[in-house]
Amino acid sequence: MAQAAVIQIKGLSKTYADFWGRARVEALKPLDLEIQEGEIFGLLGPNGSGKTTTIKLLLGLLNATNGDAFMFGQDPGNQDAKRRVGYLPEETYLYKFLNAEETLSFYGKLFGLDKTTLDTRIDALIKQVGLDHARKRRLGEYSKGMARRLGLAQALINDPDLVILDEPTSGLDPIGTAEVKDLIVDLKQRGKTVLLCSHLLADVEDVCDRLAILHNGQLKACGRVDELLMSEDRTVVEIKAGEESQLDAVKAAAGEALINVDHPRERLESYFRRIVAPQQDVTKQENEA
Ligand SMILES: Nc1ncnc2c1ncn2[C@@H]1O[C@H](COP(=O)(O)OP(=O)(O)OP(=O)(O)O)[C@@H](O)[C@H]1O
Ligand SMILES: [Mg+2]
Repeated sequence: MAQAAVIQIKGLSKTYADFWGRARVEALKPLDLEIQEGEIFGLLGPNGSGKTTTIKLLLGLLNATNGDAFMFGQDPGNQDAKRRVGYLPEETYLYKFLNAEETLSFYGKLFGLDKTTLDTRIDALIKQVGLDHARKRRLGEYSKGMARRLGLAQALINDPDLVILDEPTSGLDPIGTAEVKDLIVDLKQRGKTVLLCSHLLADVEDVCDRLAILHNGQLKACGRVDELLMSEDRTVVEIKAGEESQLDAVKAAAGEALINVDHPRERLESYFRRIVAPQQDVTKQENEA
């Protein structure tokens, strides 16, 4: 059975006009893209390459110059489609006099959630984004990363089928970034579709099934992450440390074809998590004591 396309973009383009209506910036050149149900799709590109413009066109927050965009087969702005979407904008806009619970309650009520569902969901989301300790604090007192975490919870309050995240990890510490990645993987496991814009290439590499790269409003590459990144001109063989006699045999067998023998390096992120995580637990225990 063919998978349903959650997002369909056909020849979509956007030229921003100036105050007098004259064409000024060709932000998106005609773009074709499909994102299937259950995919995590990364949209990459340098500053000003058209990522946010694409998202806003999809959501009906901007009018396209040409072409079409569909979510769940519906035009941008269709209310039924919008109810199934969660959106984290590039900038977090929150009311600074509300606390985390009040904020999520406000957004949940906009979606018409009943009180029991809302209470359960608010509690789960606040814990999921790591704000349990600050749930009653006014958002005016939140750090940038804390506000980002709450923005993420807000984007998930309607339990959306499609989650669109514009730079979700901006302002987050490495642990927060790793948690967001875990959360995205969790969404995938629950069958959700995720469109993720990010400048953090390693994050996109870790979580995305497919990605597209935009540059100056033009699609430069699109495909499966593993296929785009696989170097077909090399093969890696891994051997347990200490088994030198085996290694010599492998080296001898490889002969002229041998390029390099080295220990693999741990990723900085996993090293950082290993170093910081136990200390964070200690701090938590000290706070709780
Ligand atoms: N409201 C606007 N009016 C005029 N030009 C705009 C407007 N918004 C964006 N642009 C222009 O459109 C182009 C694409 O911008 P966009 O915000 O889509 O980029 P982006 O890929 O999201 O960049 P970043 O990584 O910095 O968030 C840029 O040249 C930008 O200056
Ligand atoms: Mg942007």
